[in-house]
Amino acid sequence: MTTPQPLIAGNWKMNGVSASLAEAKAVAAGLGSTSARVALCPSATLIAQMAWALKDTAVAVGGQDCRAEPSGAFTGDVAAEQIKDAGASLVILGHSERRAGHGETDALVASKVLAALRAGLEPIVCVGETLEQRKAGEALAVVTGQVRGSLPAELAGKAYSVAYEPVWAIGTGLTPTTPEIEEVHRAIRATLVEMFGEAGRAMPILYGGSVKPSNAAEILHADEVGGALVGGAALKAEDFLGIIRAV
Ligand code: 13P
Repeated sequence: MTTPQPLIAGNWKMNGVSASLAEAKAVAAGLGSTSARVALCPSATLIAQMAWALKDTAVAVGGQDCRAEPSGAFTGDVAAEQIKDAGASLVILGHSERRAGHGETDALVASKVLAALRAGLEPIVCVGETLEQRKAGEALAVVTGQVRGSLPAELAGKAYSVAYEPVWAIGTGLTPTTPEIEEVHRAIRATLVEMFGEAGRAMPILYGGSVKPSNAAEILHADEVGGALVGGAALKAEDFLGIIRAV
C-alpha cells in the first residue's frame, strides 16, 4: 500500500471577511510545486467567495461543520449540500471546539460524516484528548474511542482523513513530543485497519494543534503523520506556505 498523499488544511475558524481572501489568493499564488494537497476552510459566509477566488488553482475549499439533515427548519445551521453547492469539496467535522462548545457526541459527528458523504464532501474527522485525559493516561483510549464512534462503516472505499488534535495543544503554542504524536497516530492507524481492513491504511492522519513553520518539518516527518490541520498559522499566507513547504 503506498503512502497516502499528504493533506495540509487550514482552519480559519471564526476569522476572516471578504478582505481576507487576499491571503487565500496569496497561498495559491505562492504554492509552487508541492506533493501535498492543500485546502482552506473558512466560515460558511466566505465559502462561495473563496471558491470563486481560488477556482483554477490547486487550493481546495472546505467547510468547518455541517448539519446532518439535508434541509429543513434548522435556523442558523448549514447543510452539507449547501456547503457543497457553495463550492467546497471538503468539510471539517467533530472539531473539539464543536464537541466542547456545542455538545457534539461521536454519534452526532458520525451522522454528519454520513451527510458529508451524501453531499459529495470529503470529511476531515477530528479527534483528540483533553489535558486531564492525557494526565490520567487515557489519551489513547479516548482518541481510539472517538475514531470508532465518529467514523461510520459507510466511509469504506471513500476519501476522508482523520485529524488528531490534542485539545490542550490547540491555540496554546504547546505541542506533544514527536514520540507522543507518533504513539497516537499509530493507534489511530491500527484502529482504522481494524475497522476498514487494509483500506484503513489509505487515508492520511493529520496532526493539528499549534503547527507553525518552525515545528512543521519535525511534525510532518513523524511516523504516520500524513499532513496537518492548521489554525492560527493558516490565517497568514506566508506562515501557511511555510508549513506546506515543510511537507
Ligand atoms: P491552532 O493551529 O491555532 O493551534 O489550531 C489548531 C486547530 O484547531 C485546527 O483545527
